[in-house]
Amino acid sequence: MEHTLVIVKPDAVARGLIGEVIRRFESEGLVVCGLKMVRLAQKEAEGFYQVHRARPFFDSLTRFMAAGPCVAMVLAGEGAIGRVRTLMGATDPAKAAEGTLRRSFAASIEKNVVHGSDSEASAAFEIPYFFNRLEIVSPAERGEISVM
Ligand code: CDP
Ligand code: MG
Repeated sequence: MEHTLVIVKPDAVARGLIGEVIRRFESEGLVVCGLKMVRLAQKEAEGFYQVHRARPFFDSLTRFMAAGPCVAMVLAGEGAIGRVRTLMGATDPAKAAEGTLRRSFAASIEKNVVHGSDSEASAAFEIPYFFNRLEIVSPAERGEISVM
């Protein structure tokens, strides 16, 4: 059972897409184990994306992420990290596969609707960035059986 961090980015929250994003993941059998709305401060957005601090898009990206509320969640499932990335689609919506969240909804390579951890190491940093242990319920604790 793998855990991954997903963020519904401020563009998607503003456009009323929270439910649609969650529905896409739940319909594929991924289980929501933690969920909250957060408004990141600029420094918090910079800390989250520190891996990209030297990239030309860093300032614009972190301002965008701090410009409005996000919805952060922990999703669990077998191979959850890779499955979430597949459902998200490529970073650039023009290159994202048909039927993916980014192809369906993203306005640009920056305002691309959703974040998902890209590896186990990223998930291990990103999940505790948003959630403490008490805020994450295991699928077993939810009393549910995964449909996968
Ligand atoms: O989110 P993902 O892992 O697909 O892409 P990333 O390479 O880790 O980049 C993080 C985020 O930076 C992207 O999701 C975009 O919002 C933004 N970005 C951008 O604005 N311009 C780029 N050329 C690349 C990424
Ligand atoms: Mg990434």
